[in-house]
Amino acid sequence: MNTTEFEIIDSCDGIDFDEVSALLKYYGLSDLDGDIQRQVFQNSYVTVFVKDNGRLIGVGRAISDGICQGAIYNIAVRDEYRGRGIGKLIVDEILSRLKGCNVVLYTHPKHLGLYEHWGFRKMRTSYAKFPREEYFEKEGFFE
Ligand SMILES: CC(C)(COP(=O)(O)OP(=O)(O)OC[C@H]1O[C@@H](n2cnc3c(N)ncnc32)[C@H](O)[C@@H]1OP(=O)(O)O)[C@@H](O)C(=O)NCCC(=O)NCCS
Repeated sequence: MNTTEFEIIDSCDGIDFDEVSALLKYYGLSDLDGDIQRQVFQNSYVTVFVKDNGRLIGVGRAISDGICQGAIYNIAVRDEYRGRGIGKLIVDEILSRLKGCNVVLYTHPKHLGLYEHWGFRKMRTSYAKFPREEYFEKEGFFE
């Protein structure tokens, strides 16, 4: 695996958020448009963008207080770049910036095993309240 050929960016400066929006929409991770997505990422504690020759190929972010709590969202890698360690790179980078924090996340039921690679464990006590609950109900997020 060689990921050094890719550019890893942690700042929102110079990022095309229409590209971010399109990537996240494509994978059903968010339906927000570019200008809102810019606010979402700018308001996040950690942002990671991976580019190949200027094209966005991967993204991820976390919200956090920077001291004790953090939550990971929007991890996505373009289909044609999958299986090359880019997802791992993004999550490793986020976790290194959240060092010492309790880190939580939820994922789509079809990706349940993914985060076990980083030592994440399923919790018995987590609760969630979403404005668009029907979608999460239909996709099998709730017990
Ligand atoms: C999930 C995703 C980010 C993985 O990206 P990737 O660059 O292919 O991942 P990597 O090559 O870094 O793989 C990291 C490890 O996770 C494993 N993995 C990848 N996708 C997985 C999945 N869906 N379920 C379980 N394990 C998975 C890989 O086998 C690899 O394990 P290894 O290190 O033992 O070989 C990518 O498939 C994606 O963007 N999917 C669509 C968006 C999405 O569903 N995101 C996650 C929801 S939050």
